[in-house]
Amino acid sequence: MKILVINGPNLNMLGKREPEIYGTTTIEEIEKSLSEYARSFEGVELEFFQSNHEGEIVEKIQGALGTFDGILINPAAYTHTSLAIADAIKAVNLPSVEIHLSNIHSREEFRKNSFTAPACIGQIAGFGKNSYLAALFCLVKHLENR
Ligand code: DQA
Repeated sequence: MKILVINGPNLNMLGKREPEIYGTTTIEEIEKSLSEYARSFEGVELEFFQSNHEGEIVEKIQGALGTFDGILINPAAYTHTSLAIADAIKAVNLPSVEIHLSNIHSREEFRKNSFTAPACIGQIAGFGKNSYLAALFCLVKHLENR
């Protein structure tokens, strides 16, 4: 089972970026934790991709068709703006889980809307780096039960 993990804009700054909201864990540390956790499931392989560019994320999602079984995605600020990323997820029709470190529903009004969540099988928000681990668990179980 191959899972693509996509992180959107400014998530390469994790650790330094607004640590009171996003914590002090870096993206590399999150990816390492995910890789370690993936080993507890049989046959789960992860590939990581981070980009600050909407079009690159769209192209990565398009390229996942035929190669990956599912997608974990933190679209970051594009969550609240990107019809293009939402359409790409719908276009490939791969089970996808939306991830947020922070609880976007308890923050500014504009963060409460997600263009991308309706294209996903679910959303996990508010658990910091553990949002990623919870999302991996949920996606693997979803794919195993298909
Ligand atoms: C985020 C929440 C978004 O609103 C924000 O723009 C981010 C990070 C999160 O993981 O909590 O960049 O996706």
